[in-house]
Amino acid sequence: MKGSSLSSNAVPGRPAHRTVRELPPAFLAPNVEFIDLHPQTGSFLGEVWAGMGARPKKLEPKFFYDETGSRLFERICELPEYYPTRCETAILENHAEEIREAVGEDPLLIEYGSGNSRKVQILFDKLLPAGYIAIDISRAALLQACSELALLHPSMPVSAICADYCNPVTLPERMLGSAARPVAFFPGSTIGNFTPQAAVAFLRNMRESVGAHGGLLIGVDLKKDKARLHAAYNDSDGITAAFNLNLLHRINHELDADFDPSSFEHHAFYNEAAGRIEMHLVSRRRQSVTIAGRTFAFEEGETIHTENSYKYTVEGFRKLAARAGFGWNKVWLDDERLFSVHYFAAV
Ligand SMILES: C[S@@+](CC[C@H](N)C(=O)[O-])C[C@H]1O[C@@H](n2cnc3c(N)ncnc32)[C@H](O)[C@@H]1O
Repeated sequence: MKGSSLSSNAVPGRPAHRTVRELPPAFLAPNVEFIDLHPQTGSFLGEVWAGMGARPKKLEPKFFYDETGSRLFERICELPEYYPTRCETAILENHAEEIREAVGEDPLLIEYGSGNSRKVQILFDKLLPAGYIAIDISRAALLQACSELALLHPSMPVSAICADYCNPVTLPERMLGSAARPVAFFPGSTIGNFTPQAAVAFLRNMRESVGAHGGLLIGVDLKKDKARLHAAYNDSDGITAAFNLNLLHRINHELDADFDPSSFEHHAFYNEAAGRIEMHLVSRRRQSVTIAGRTFAFEEGETIHTENSYKYTVEGFRKLAARAGFGWNKVWLDDERLFSVHYFAAV
């Protein structure tokens, strides 16, 4: 464990999270089991070609998260304009005891899109989970986060599963058998990346995975003033723009492509009729781009649609979850009522 040290990453005005810093890249803590389902082997090029051939052009948001993308997302979470992380963290901190009462004893926490696993750590001391399963498509970020967390909780079994959670993911039996209740944890309002119809299908799969006695703890961004939403996805430091444009850098590096990222610009706006933020990359000029031997033409002003982020009312989300087989519900909001965290029991 050379090079590791326990440290605090306190941000002024925010509580410190305990972390273990400077772990060597290939380090895996002894209580972490790593399961690699190789989520992007083979599929990246096919999906990029299909997306560039679509009208309008599109790319799936899961491709944002290479190592650089995961790091940029962490910076987004610290931006003053990006209220979701701040609000959700405050909800988890202020209501951890009520969340424990709702979830019950000995849960197995299964986090989808676990990223830096920082939010789940807020709950650990209260929920005392029997085990933790983290699922994420971003391998380096997943391994780093799980090792940090496992070193802080050396007696807890941790499974790190590198997978695309849109495909079936078999959860380790050993972990499922060790807990009273499997509880899916899906923070960050990542559910907003799915259309409502796709969100129901996705939650139905989650419901299958946690079983009839399982639960779902999920962070959901709320509908609100357009200006507030606009600011959150158009920060003044340009970090969200860099996150969006990193997709083109990634395609260049990994797929032998010749995008000129400086000839595209970040565009994010609230589509009120659809109830979603849309992120796009807009071509500043007429141009063509070659990706692994195939050429795609862009008109000036033509966009690549890179992300949707649907916003919900509390009641609207309750109805959506009910269609996926989740019933009994408790919900917590932050003081400004910008963000919600729901707990649902399976029915
Ligand atoms: C919006 S971030 C949220 C991160 C963290 N849960 C939070 O709340 O701050 C989405 C996370 O989900 C992961 N992710 C996105 N699409 C995924 C997919 N299809 N399968 C697995 N993980 C995915 C990303 O790598 C990233 O860590």
